[in-house]
Amino acid sequence: MERIIGRKLITLDEVDSTNEYAKRIVQDVPEGTVVVAKRQTAGRGRRGRNWTSPEGGLWMSVVLKPPRVDPRLVFVGALAVVDTLADFGIESGIKWPNDVWAGGRKISGILTEGKAGEYSILGIGLNVNNVIPEELRENAVSMVQFTGRELPLDAVLERLLFHLGGWYRVFLERPDLLMAKVRERAFILGKAVTVTEGDERISGIALDILDDGSLLMDIDGQLRRILYGDVSLRFF
Ligand code: ATP
Ligand code: BTN
Repeated sequence: MERIIGRKLITLDEVDSTNEYAKRIVQDVPEGTVVVAKRQTAGRGRRGRNWTSPEGGLWMSVVLKPPRVDPRLVFVGALAVVDTLADFGIESGIKWPNDVWAGGRKISGILTEGKAGEYSILGIGLNVNNVIPEELRENAVSMVQFTGRELPLDAVLERLLFHLGGWYRVFLERPDLLMAKVRERAFILGKAVTVTEGDERISGIALDILDDGSLLMDIDGQLRRILYGDVSLRFF
């Protein structure tokens, strides 16, 4: 099958945010176009939170035009990152909803943005050789801290594009299988967590991730489904 993701690659030295750049060019490029930047001056997480993006990391966005905006697209990114890390000998897991953790710290974050009927942007930040700033060191980690030697960014990108292509096809054709893999890779299940949704804090046990991407929690014996959205998850 023709490889869609990465068939056009735009490489930049510096950009505000690859997601913003992708949104600016979305009308002029084919589906699967990938934007990669050496550094971002205004890298973003969700709700406008800052994403530290110095040189040495992999900061990229994929332009997609799926039939509908589907929140499960984030898991295409998360699974592809987990598989890429495994290719370099690093064990990791998905922290629902949009992070990948390794060795108890965040190594990657995914930011999906979309406009119904028009496009979806899948943004991935992966700490590769970049030095983690002091204030994030407790919670964030780079691949180089596991490998002990710097990794060629183009090799990491190549593996990531390969896995993105595979998981994107599963997402389109068998989203149930995509979600089965997410459950397998999610390390939050069975753990006590607090989910913050707007002003509400919900504490309980993370029981399952359902086929629609939502999180099923047990709150003192009551089941509650938390929809994927701007929710934040912490361990007790
Ligand atoms: P959640 O834990 O629910 O995903 P979050 O607090 O991680 O929520 P996000 O918006 O998903 O918030 O991610 C942005 C956060 O990630 C920032 O507030 C910062 O704490 C952290 N962060 C920023 N840059 C990096 C980086 N390069 N690597 C790891 N973590 C980072
Ligand atoms: C998160 O953890 O909240 C998601 C962080 C996503 C960061 C990536 S880096 C490439 C792309 N461009 C951005 O500005 N954000 C995403």
